[in-house]
Amino acid sequence: MFEILHFTSVSSTQEIARMILRDNVVILADEQKNGRGRKGRVWFSPPGGLWMTVILKSEEPQLITLKASVAMVKALKKMGVKAEIKWPNDILVKGKKVCGILGEAYENFVLLGIGLNLENEIPEELREIAINLPNIQRDAFLPLFLEILEKELKKGRKDILEEWRKYQCTLGRKVIVDEELQGVAEDIDEEGFLILNTGGERKRIMAGTLRFLE
Ligand code: BTN
Repeated sequence: MFEILHFTSVSSTQEIARMILRDNVVILADEQKNGRGRKGRVWFSPPGGLWMTVILKSEEPQLITLKASVAMVKALKKMGVKAEIKWPNDILVKGKKVCGILGEAYENFVLLGIGLNLENEIPEELREIAINLPNIQRDAFLPLFLEILEKELKKGRKDILEEWRKYQCTLGRKVIVDEELQGVAEDIDEEGFLILNTGGERKRIMAGTLRFLE
């Protein structure tokens, strides 16, 4: 069971989480003034979206983010939305990013940051690559997601990897990672690292920004 701490406006739920640091607490904010994504990127978080950090006592951010991705796809499916996972943990709808997931290790905790575009506006300059789900209300979606997340968190690595593979749209495709390393995304390994076949060589990639080439 999660305890939800609801804030109207925060800098970033990740920052609040660092101060609270209690297992199974969810920091939920109506808006973030300084929301951030992976690699320190800006994450637009105006009212209407789901912006939260789930605090979990764990030292496995990689595995937790895989679990959260699977939970997100399943919860969206329950709402009638077909979503897919793009490695490492972007959730896409119609090929555009609807949700970003950030797993940060902090002391003995994982701060699982989740940003899901719902009724919030998408800035003009991001509309080519990002999408929202204006028909889904945050307060209806949140309990559903947390219920599914709770179940996924209890599963073992093998089951999660199997589910992740079922819902992903990355493997088997030609990709470029961080705009420098090209190859075919072959698989993910036990730790969620991407196995990239660069033409003879198989590279194991822990993190990066992936773009599909075809
Ligand atoms: C990504 O870059 O794809 C990850 C985006 C994570 C955004 C969420 S919104 C709630 C939490 N607070 C933040 O500042 N970031 C995460």
